[in-house]
Amino acid sequence: MSHAANGILWLNGQFGDFQTSRVALEDRGFQFGDGIYEVARTYNGVPFMLREHIARLFRSAAGIDLTLTMSGDELTVIARDLLIRFSSDDAEIYFQITRGAAPRNLLYADEMQPTVIVGVRPPRYVPPELRETGCHVITVPDERWARCDLKTICLLPNALAKGRAHRAGAFDALMIRDKLLTEGTASNVFLWLNEKLITPVADNRILHGITRGVVLKIAREIGYSIVERDINREELYAAQEVFLTSTSLELMPVVIIDDKTVGTGAAGDAHRDLHTAFRSFAQKH
Ligand code: PDD
Repeated sequence: MSHAANGILWLNGQFGDFQTSRVALEDRGFQFGDGIYEVARTYNGVPFMLREHIARLFRSAAGIDLTLTMSGDELTVIARDLLIRFSSDDAEIYFQITRGAAPRNLLYADEMQPTVIVGVRPPRYVPPELRETGCHVITVPDERWARCDLKTICLLPNALAKGRAHRAGAFDALMIRDKLLTEGTASNVFLWLNEKLITPVADNRILHGITRGVVLKIAREIGYSIVERDINREELYAAQEVFLTSTSLELMPVVIIDDKTVGTGAAGDAHRDLHTAFRSFAQKH
């Protein structure tokens, strides 16, 4: 595969690709994980919920005291330019902004020049059979910091949880903090329990997923009874259906949690109904 087929990017004004573009050794993203990111995607070549992703990028920036030097419109223009150059209907759009480079010191200057990356690449691979059969997850302690609503590049706890899941033969891990379910390593989580669609509250404990928001809006329109509240482990195990939501997964059914079967052990009707509605919303947005 050529470099361009693996994706193309814009890094502080220069076009390049993911293999050969370079940032400085003393970039605070590399030194401290001092940065934020976003992952969006296209349907039929058109960016999906891009305004919402850019708005969240700005909320994440404000949350880490990072002043962006570019506007949302400027970032959007670059993303659209990259999409034209990439010329594929299916693409993932990636934004990453770090505080920039400076001699290593926790204290940062106010007037730093952020490192800005906008990238476009093929969408993340999701095994198609998992969409049909549903996936297996394990639960792990949520060892992240207290601002999980900010989409920062400090993803070490998420990566360790994902690794643990992989070694256990599972697709992903669901995280539990203070005995309550938070989210997946890169996804939000929904339960179908006693005729209600239940998902954790969007506070500082989880990322306010764009897909989560779309699913809630669609479910409300269809007439589902929706509850955003704390969920404990017993309820998670008792749910008739569980599914994950994210930009790359859309809605992914979960059929085994910690060796316990969810509901009938197959993807359920609520998932199917909502995924169908989500797909048609995404296709014609
Ligand atoms: N992850 N929770 C976490 C911790 C996430 O990292 C993500 C997204 C989500 C779902 O958010 P959204 O629906 O806006 O994609 C929830 C992206 C896809 C990633 O890290 O690749």
